[in-house]
Amino acid sequence: MATADVPEGGGVIVQEKYVVTQPTAGEFKAFSAACTHQGCPVDKVENSEIVCPCHGSHFAIDSGEPVAGPAEAPLPAVEFTVSGDNLVLPE
Ligand code: FES
Repeated sequence: MATADVPEGGGVIVQEKYVVTQPTAGEFKAFSAACTHQGCPVDKVENSEIVCPCHGSHFAIDSGEPVAGPAEAPLPAVEFTVSGDNLVLPE
C-alpha cells in the first residue's frame, strides 16, 4: 500500500486484517486488526484512536494500547517494511 494512503494523526484498516497508523508525520505503525477483547475486526480510526465496533474498545494509534472499553491487552504490533513510497505488510 502507499504510505500516502495513511492519514497523519490517524490510520486505515487494511483488508480487515491490519490497522496501519501514522501517529506523527513520517512515523508508521501496524497492528493486528483483531480486537483483543473477543476478536472482532476493528473497523475505524477516529480522534487518534482505533475503534472496535463490537463492544466499544478504543486503542491508541501509537502503541495499540487499550484506552477505553473492555479490551485489556494491546493490539499486537505487526512487522512491516517501508520501501520508497510503499508500505509492505505481511501476506
Ligand atoms: S470484541 Fe472488540 S470490544 Fe469486544
